[in-house]
Amino acid sequence: EHLVVAIDGPSGSGKSSVSKAVARELGVGYLDTGAMYRALTWWCLEEGVDLDDKAAVAQAARDLPLEMGTDPAQPAVRVSGRDINDDIRTTRVSEVVSKVATNTDVRPVLQQRQRDLMSQVAEVTGGVVAEGRDITTVVAPDADVRILLTASEEARLRRRSKELHGHADDHAVEATRDQVVRRDRDDSTVSDFTEAAEGVTLVDTSDLDFEQSVQAVVDVVER
Ligand code: CDP
Repeated sequence: EHLVVAIDGPSGSGKSSVSKAVARELGVGYLDTGAMYRALTWWCLEEGVDLDDKAAVAQAARDLPLEMGTDPAQPAVRVSGRDINDDIRTTRVSEVVSKVATNTDVRPVLQQRQRDLMSQVAEVTGGVVAEGRDITTVVAPDADVRILLTASEEARLRRRSKELHGHADDHAVEATRDQVVRRDRDDSTVSDFTEAAEGVTLVDTSDLDFEQSVQAVVDVVER
């Protein structure tokens, strides 16, 4: 049988990097569902689709010629054959992706694509680690292992600051705070992360470094 691991958590919890490393360690495929919301956002910006037009963005979600690479060693995101993995991580996209991710007409479309991708990759590699908001609750509520990665706000800010500015001195952390707090608020209609849903294991990474976080998740999978 295939091993399905679903990992949820707020930004800065280490969700993406940890999930990728866990997939490599387990030798299974990897799906970054946030990248799908980002790819859709990028495409709407490219095509001039009004992000406030709910129906138009939902239609774009149905039409999106998206190919998700599921190799954790080199996750690729392609639209119409073009690799957009870097384009979707720019501030241009990050600033407005919440608008797309909270569009209630968009979510069921991408969620169904996520379920399809997860079963395809599990079929090929024997399993899948999928990460993103609502993966443990809506997309894959019957996953074998469901994990909520959390971290204190300070720990999350420090990590994001390092990602965005290359360091985490006081000034950089404050600059990051605005962005992260705003995104958490914009995303709060999707889910909040105060507690894990029933059957979901909470892994707090506040005091863990990267390797320890990966090990903590692998431990949950293997127990
Ligand atoms: O790691 P971070 O939360 O910064 O970003 P991401 O995982 O790349 O997700 C991009 C955006 O899509 C965020 O606003 C997420 O909340 C949203 N998202 C979502 O709504 N549902 C998912 N399954 C994955 C991401």
